[in-house]
Amino acid sequence: MTTQQAPAIRVQGLEKSYNKVEVLRGVDFDVERGSIFALLGSNGAGKTTIVRILSTLLAADAGTAGVNGFDVATQPGNVRESISLTGQFAAVDEILSARENLVLIAKLRHLKNADTIADDLLERFSLTDAATRKVSTYSGGMRRRLDIAMSLIGNPPVIFLDEPTTGLDPQARVEVWDAVKELAEQGTTVLLTTQYLDEAEQLADRIAILHRGRIIVNGTLAELKQLLPPARVEYVEKQPSLEDIFFALVGGDDDEGTPRNDRGAVRTK
Ligand SMILES: Nc1ncnc2c1ncn2[C@@H]1O[C@H](COP(=O)(O)OP(=O)(O)OP(=O)(O)O)[C@@H](O)[C@H]1O
Ligand SMILES: [Mg+2]
Repeated sequence: MTTQQAPAIRVQGLEKSYNKVEVLRGVDFDVERGSIFALLGSNGAGKTTIVRILSTLLAADAGTAGVNGFDVATQPGNVRESISLTGQFAAVDEILSARENLVLIAKLRHLKNADTIADDLLERFSLTDAATRKVSTYSGGMRRRLDIAMSLIGNPPVIFLDEPTTGLDPQARVEVWDAVKELAEQGTTVLLTTQYLDEAEQLADRIAILHRGRIIVNGTLAELKQLLPPARVEYVEKQPSLEDIFFALVGGDDDEGTPRNDRGAVRTK
């Protein structure tokens, strides 16, 4: 398979345990080029573990993973050149300004036109007005936008966003969503992890739910909605929300992973 024909991300039979705890127990999914793929799961489901394996920071116990046509285990250098990773916690330097942060990264990546790259990204992420202020004075949304802007330096074809809006207020989340949508419109493949169902609903072309070490569903929002019939209340038809679908599928487990409702029944309101 050539690099061009391969999906942007291909994960097959991925397994990972920490000590004796099996976190990933055979994870499979593909992400098409230029699409936004949301990996949805509860705390501790293994989302960050998948992102760390795909970005070559962690080795899987079994299975294969390819990014941009390169194998993460045997071609880690090619994978790293193809990606950028925005971690769960913002990695911007507080005592520098947004512009200084961007120029610094561009220079670290040996790009010649660091100033132009910085100015373009500031404009694209609506940070031009605050460009010369120290990041320590920024709001959470501005920091996140800067974080994403920094990860785009060098135009990687694939970007990983691990919980890009955790801890942000609703307005800041919408700003980050707009930035992510714009990325995909320009052809970048985005894999994002989230615990927010509305985030997946808003952004993703495809949504996969990771539960107990496996992908239990993978589809478009429309396909996921078909898993639950709309509930009828007199004359009003209620479409299931992604939240209804999520809880019907994961079954309202408690923290120990013990199902509270093990009838396998689909919950409707
Ligand atoms: N280095 C490690 N050593 C031992 N256990 C780990 C390690 N890293 C992760 N785990 C465990 O693996 C499981 C999956 O963790 P992971 O961080 O991938 O989950 P997550 O889906 O990203 O969760 P969150 O939504 O909280 O970020 C958790 O139970 C976690 O405690
Ligand atoms: Mg995580």
